Amino acid sequence: MAKISFLNGEFIEHSKAMVHIDDRAMQFADSVYEVTLVHNNKLIDGELHWQRLTNSLEKMKIRINYTVEQLDDFAQQLIRQNDIVTGSLYIQITRGVAPRNQLLPENIKPTVIMTISEFKLPVAEILDKAVKTISQPDIRWQMCDVKSTGLLIGSLYKQKAADANCDDVIMLRDNVVTECCFSNIFIVKDQQLITHPLDNHILAGITRHRIIELAKQVDIKVIERKFKFDELLEADEVFSSSTTTFVRPIHIVDNQMIKDGATGRVTRELFNSYLKFVQST
Ligand code: PDD
Repeated sequence: MAKISFLNGEFIEHSKAMVHIDDRAMQFADSVYEVTLVHNNKLIDGELHWQRLTNSLEKMKIRINYTVEQLDDFAQQLIRQNDIVTGSLYIQITRGVAPRNQLLPENIKPTVIMTISEFKLPVAEILDKAVKTISQPDIRWQMCDVKSTGLLIGSLYKQKAADANCDDVIMLRDNVVTECCFSNIFIVKDQQLITHPLDNHILAGITRHRIIELAKQVDIKVIERKFKFDELLEADEVFSSSTTTFVRPIHIVDNQMIKDGATGRVTRELFNSYLKFVQST
């Protein structure tokens, strides 16, 4: 069965889904996106993803011609048409097509794209695989709360990590730990969970939000505050979170081991409770 994608109100064969070369996503990265997990044919935390997409659109002053309900309906149709039980749904909305001009064009019609791919839920065995990282300065822009497709720093850093035989980069802004390339980051110290507060220097991860809720349910204290790189190196556990990686331990940073280099109890517990949360949806 040929993969079906959504483009501007139509469901078409993926290989035929084309966007114009004057789309402002091309010249200005003038677009926002979401990646949402689908399980049992349903969006996981769909409402939160639609809310974040709405926030991103508002911050970028992109006016969209569909309601959230319509977008959700298109997503459901796409899931059905591709017969996906567990997958990852990609949604992108660009300001639209216009001749290149730095000013924002008026009366422009946004380009709306959705694609879906099969996805396998992570299994607990991945927690035993050593995850190595390097640190780098966070040189991204000051609007990291917008889920913009201006992702080149994350992509260059991901490659830099791979070239160094590592899995990810931990980014530091004035020595404060912000995020990994495409995920939020947490440390555990004395059974307390610490993560960067929500502001313009991080993305408000939906998985981050869910992990915090799940931690509170089992009486793990959660502190949303800035922490420096030294504190991370001294932590009992470090892990990252995202829609596609769930809860992922970090064992090595700049060749230094976190604690004894093994995945800690809190990380395991939160991975398992997040997996259960997804499976029970
Ligand atoms: N990335 N921070 C950044 C910079 C991200 O790109 C992401 C997600 C997150 C985690 O957000 P969430 O829990 O809502 O997935 C944090 C997605 C998965 C991506 O670009 O593929």
